[in-house]
Amino acid sequence: MARGRLWKACVIASLTIFQALIKVTFHSYEQINWETCTSSDACLVPANSKNATCGQGSISTYSVHATSSADVVKYVNFATKYNLRIVTKNTGHDYAGRSSGKGGFGLWTHGIKGISRNTTFVPAGSSIAPQDAVTIGAGVQWSDVYQFADDNNIIVVGGDSPNVGAAGGWIQGGGHSVLSQAYGLGVDNLLQATIVTANGVERTINEYQGAIRGGGPGTWGIITSITYKAHPGVPCAWVSISSRFSTVDDNYKLVQKYIEQAPVWADLGGGSFLNILPQSVTFLGVIPNATSVRAKQGLATIEPALPPGSNISYVDAPSFQSFFKATFDVSNEIVGINFALSSRLIPRTYFETDSAGLASALRKGQVFLGSSADVQTIQVLADTPAPKFQRNVTSTTPSWYNSLWHVIYTTAWPSNATVAQQQQLIKGIHDGAQVLRDYSPNSGAYISEADVYEPNHEASFWGTANAARLKTIKAKYDPKNFFQVWQGMDGMALRIRSTSAMLSSTPEMHPLLTSFA
Ligand SMILES: Cc1cc2nc3c(=O)[nH]c(=O)nc-3n(C[C@H](O)[C@H](O)[C@H](O)COP(=O)(O)OP(=O)(O)OC[C@H]3O[C@@H](n4cnc5c(N)ncnc54)[C@H](O)[C@@H]3O)c2cc1C
Ligand SMILES: *[C@@H]1O[C@H](CO)[C@@H](O)[C@H](O)[C@H]1NC(C)=O
Ligand SMILES: *[C@@H]1O[C@H](CO)[C@@H](O)[C@H](O)[C@H]1NC(C)=O
Ligand SMILES: *[C@@H]1O[C@H](CO)[C@@H](O)[C@H](O)[C@H]1NC(C)=O
Ligand SMILES: *[C@@H]1O[C@H](CO)[C@@H](O)[C@H](O)[C@H]1NC(C)=O
Ligand SMILES: *[C@@H]1O[C@H](CO)[C@@H](O)[C@H](O)[C@H]1NC(C)=O
Ligand SMILES: *[C@@H]1O[C@H](CO)[C@@H](O)[C@H](O)[C@H]1NC(C)=O
Repeated sequence: MARGRLWKACVIASLTIFQALIKVTFHSYEQINWETCTSSDACLVPANSKNATCGQGSISTYSVHATSSADVVKYVNFATKYNLRIVTKNTGHDYAGRSSGKGGFGLWTHGIKGISRNTTFVPAGSSIAPQDAVTIGAGVQWSDVYQFADDNNIIVVGGDSPNVGAAGGWIQGGGHSVLSQAYGLGVDNLLQATIVTANGVERTINEYQGAIRGGGPGTWGIITSITYKAHPGVPCAWVSISSRFSTVDDNYKLVQKYIEQAPVWADLGGGSFLNILPQSVTFLGVIPNATSVRAKQGLATIEPALPPGSNISYVDAPSFQSFFKATFDVSNEIVGINFALSSRLIPRTYFETDSAGLASALRKGQVFLGSSADVQTIQVLADTPAPKFQRNVTSTTPSWYNSLWHVIYTTAWPSNATVAQQQQLIKGIHDGAQVLRDYSPNSGAYISEADVYEPNHEASFWGTANAARLKTIKAKYDPKNFFQVWQGMDGMALRIRSTSAMLSSTPEMHPLLTSFA
């Protein structure tokens, strides 16, 4: 998606290589900071020369390529026999480097393919009515699922990036979609999964087994397949708006209008993506099963507040795929950059009772982000589910179900930045989001798009009740912690990144993770 789309060209000079690699290469990561382990022990091939000496960086020392469940069982048994820490990698999109791991035993799931539909699917052992459903292999990506869904005139709720995996970290983190207000999070659409646990057994999981429904990625075993609910295909109304003011004050008055409009848009079933810079805002919104008449209704207070020179366009798209192809799919997902983010879920109550206070908190956070306009982006994903989807069977922070905006502060840096410079930028977004943590102390953050230094991460990612339950499940299914990831359940709780394959060896700090330790 558009996470990095505003970065300057100089930051992303060697992009072309990475864009070609991200879909097909074992050891490519969306954000190269998670493969280079800072530049001291890295392998960054310069764009104009392939003659470079390569270090191992954060990349697993030993790696295997699985193409089936049987492969996964075999590799898990091998790893546990030799006491190796298992590092699961699918697409390499994780924002906390959870799919790389120096010294670990890497297991690549990208080759586990397959997509099929069953219009009368009944989850194993369940008595629910037959459902329209789509089953995918662990390595399938959203672009593939969306094409399949479109071909079948159905909707499968998925992520905003075509390249994120549809059955890996996305679903285990919770999985938000621009369609979530209308259809729920990914975890609300999960009918069944198969997973190979540390004892080498492939299990079938469905309703009420909440660990993989938001309990976090890379922690419970290796998912081999996922079955999602399929919804009937519907037309979608979408709208894009861009505006620019000459003063920050005026811009933030408009931001306040967008805040006041957010509950209306959500109640119409809409999701949206906003990019807030100090003097400009862009908005991209979509409402499924609606026409632009409905979209205009949702923006009744915004249109009159736009300054001269603004652009606004409404489109009646025949399908979700038509919307996706015209928007998220073409916004050039930036890969191969050094990147970090920090975030907060903002509950609806603030939108309804304190729009000025919320606008002011967002603005206050923005000033921490740096002096150049390009590094001050606030990205808002209004991808939250309507409260009716809360069935208490998922492990995500309950805040997802009463929030309207998932607010993200981002930063990026060139590969020659010093460790101190990197830490300063990361501290900038951490402090920026801290304004929102202080503002909404009872909310949480999304585990898959959170600050690497998320404070009280268990309460933040899961809530204390879910976290307690997850701890028990972890102790039962992976007592030796073969599957441990950064800020995962009983993973690297001491903020330590193991650099050794052997679980018993002394771990070593990742240089980027030392500044708050
Ligand atoms: C550009 C971009 C856009 C994004 N958009 C969205 C969005 O719209 N909605 C949203 O919810 N999130 C979004 N995310 C976050 C995304 O969901 C996470 O980065 C997610 O972890 C990616 O999962 P992956 O399997 O593709 O990536 P990887 O980095 O390969 O894996 C991520 C994590 O999942 C684990 N994992 C992967 N496969 C398996 C498996 N089969 N079994 C067990 N563990 C596994 C890995 O060990 C790692 O911990 C976005 C991220 C990026 C970079
Ligand atoms: C590659 O770089 C090394 C060290 O800088 C140099 O000695 C060597 O000649 C180079 N090889 C090529 C093919 O350019
Ligand atoms: C669809 O699911 C039903 C119930 O789970 C099962 O009996 C049937 O064999 C499946 N059909 C296909 C084509 O897999
Ligand atoms: C509106 O569109 C025009 C034409 O593409 C462009 O020049 C202008 O910058 C846009 N305005 C804003 C505020 O983005
Ligand atoms: C779409 O909306 C109509 C009413 O406008 C409703 O009858 C129909 O069930 C909706 N379809 C879906 C798939 O939500
Ligand atoms: C979920 O739990 C909350 C808090 O305990 C409760 O208020 C709500 O009714 C529950 N929802 C369902 C569907 O059980
Ligand atoms: C990084 O490279 C850029 C451009 O080549 C240069 O301007 C900058 O000073 C360098 N930064 C460091 C820390 O070396």
